[in-house]
Amino acid sequence: MTTAVIGASGQLGTDLPKFLSGEVVSIRHSDMELTDSDSINSCLDRIRPEVVINTAAYNLVDKAEDEGHQAMAVNFLGPARVARWCLENDATLVHFSTDYVFGALSFEALTNNPQEPVASSPRREIDLAVPGSIYAQSKLAGENMVRSICRRHFVIRTCGLYGVAATRGVGKGNFVETMLLLGAERDELAVVNDQHCTPTATRDLAQATAELITTEKYGLYHATNSGATTWHDLAAEIFRQAKIDVKLRPLTTEEFGAKAARPAYSVLNCQKLESAIGRPMPAWQDALRQYLIDRTQNLATDQR
Ligand SMILES: NC(=O)c1ccc[n+]([C@@H]2O[C@H](COP(=O)([O-])OP(=O)(O)OC[C@H]3O[C@@H](n4cnc5c(N)ncnc54)[C@H](OP(=O)(O)O)[C@@H]3O)[C@@H](O)[C@H]2O)c1
Repeated sequence: MTTAVIGASGQLGTDLPKFLSGEVVSIRHSDMELTDSDSINSCLDRIRPEVVINTAAYNLVDKAEDEGHQAMAVNFLGPARVARWCLENDATLVHFSTDYVFGALSFEALTNNPQEPVASSPRREIDLAVPGSIYAQSKLAGENMVRSICRRHFVIRTCGLYGVAATRGVGKGNFVETMLLLGAERDELAVVNDQHCTPTATRDLAQATAELITTEKYGLYHATNSGATTWHDLAAEIFRQAKIDVKLRPLTTEEFGAKAARPAYSVLNCQKLESAIGRPMPAWQDALRQYLIDRTQNLATDQR
């Protein structure tokens, strides 16, 4: 069986081939442009995969507020075109989405009680998603296209990804790398402490995805490491594990003042995935520990 991985130089795209069986063909941005139907069709026609895994996306959450057209072209129209190729060529499509589809307010809060500020229990696949930013709208539109066009699909929502590809300066980087960099430069840092979610190692997501797609239990899934935290508490754990001495100060989302709205609570309920693959993904603290080991090995290999 041939599996094509789109977005192969990104964080998740780098880790996926480590866990997939059969022939794996890596498709980089230079091989395929998601905003161009001809590029998608000619690349996939050449490879003729039975499974297509799309990890590519426009991921610049704040910039998307000014570049909505580009975010929609990559995150909405791109997956729709890939789904169309999969439908016409009898291939399975695996596509990734985001916890940000659960925006600042829950659907229940919007409809029943506008005063209710945040949801506070892990969000399930059947919960209605109300995106709060252009990026989130583009990702929700993309997942809906995949689900409606291609019957044999896995749409996997995840959160706060970090993977070793970021140590090579690939893509937009990740939160762990940013904290390690800032921690080495500064004595004190202020980090947002009122956004609750579950940061996830791409290595663990790649492994769980490889297991899930062998089940043929198609559908929408939530997949993150286990547990929940805030960006502030994640930063504290990064500095504790990396033995970096930095004074941390909690910030509110309002004080931080990012351009795009982020959900205050987007912890994902992963029970459906756990039933499908027969296990939970590792705890976020253990995933971080493994990442710090892997990145050190990666950096050492790169220096040789
Ligand atoms: N990162 C997160 O925190 C996070 C959180 C939740 C969900 N997700 C989702 O998880 C998936 C994987 O994320 P990731 O962090 O692994 O992404 P990533 O590291 O940013 O990699 C994305 C890849 O997509 C490629 N790409 C961007 N625009 C493209 C286009 N127009 N055509 C073709 N390729 C294009 C990029 O290539 P270039 O760099 O060469 O442009 C890059 O290799 C994405 O669907 C993302 O939305 C990510």
